[in-house]
Amino acid sequence: MLQKIKETTSFIEKTIPFRPEVGIILGTGLGGLVNEITIHYELNYEKIPDFPVSTVDGHHGKLIFGILGGKKVVAMQGRFHFYEGYKMDDVIFPVRVLKLLGIKYLFISNASGGVNPDFEIGDLMIINDHINLLPNPLIGKHHPEFGVRFPDMEEVYSRELIKKAKIIAKQKGIMVREGVYTATTGPTFETPAEYKYFRIIGSDTVGMSTVPEAIAAHQMELSCFAISIITDLGVPGKIETITHEAVQEVASKAEEKMTIIMQELISLL
Ligand code: HPA
Repeated sequence: MLQKIKETTSFIEKTIPFRPEVGIILGTGLGGLVNEITIHYELNYEKIPDFPVSTVDGHHGKLIFGILGGKKVVAMQGRFHFYEGYKMDDVIFPVRVLKLLGIKYLFISNASGGVNPDFEIGDLMIINDHINLLPNPLIGKHHPEFGVRFPDMEEVYSRELIKKAKIIAKQKGIMVREGVYTATTGPTFETPAEYKYFRIIGSDTVGMSTVPEAIAAHQMELSCFAISIITDLGVPGKIETITHEAVQEVASKAEEKMTIIMQELISLL
């Protein structure tokens, strides 16, 4: 795996003369941030040796290199989920490659179901902690190049970035929530009993992504910032039938607010 990561990195370095300092992973229905990037280069995942290829509707599958908020960024349009059948090694493969390309920060967006009864559909939640119910992506051979064997997990999501994001949100008049994101395997959405369980164990939202990449990023000592759009509610009395299309629709309506926060925060780095 280490060899593959190094080979893929060196392919990208040879193909794209651009060294990003910020990595961005765009979630379901949240590709619009790309419109704010002054694009210098694009690279389809299919063209990158050993890169996994995305299979879900609404996930495009390319790396976008350019300038956002005055910083050199690389955005992943399309990410890899465990429910698609990838091994956890593959799910975090791109984050490892981006680290070797030189990023210092990782920004992640996703769509999730709110289980906190105060939340509404369309709300934004800054992730300040997580509960991982996916297999741990660091299981397996340890590569010291990527960090320690037993990473501390006290501050996976940079408190400094969270603090700045909250100030930005306030200045821009954007209401943000803050809380705990729980990652599950999917691809099923939750039963009412499961939503209730997730609330009891301490979640504010539940989704099927983000945590593997955040764990890998944290092991590699990247500063991580993640934001979730609440696309449906897993709150007793408010649970409605949910579809992937509905998730995409709500996410794309709320993404403008998320884009403003991400862009402003990146400009402050
Ligand atoms: N559950 C899990 N994943 C999700 C949800 C949900 O309710 N909404 C968007 N992604």
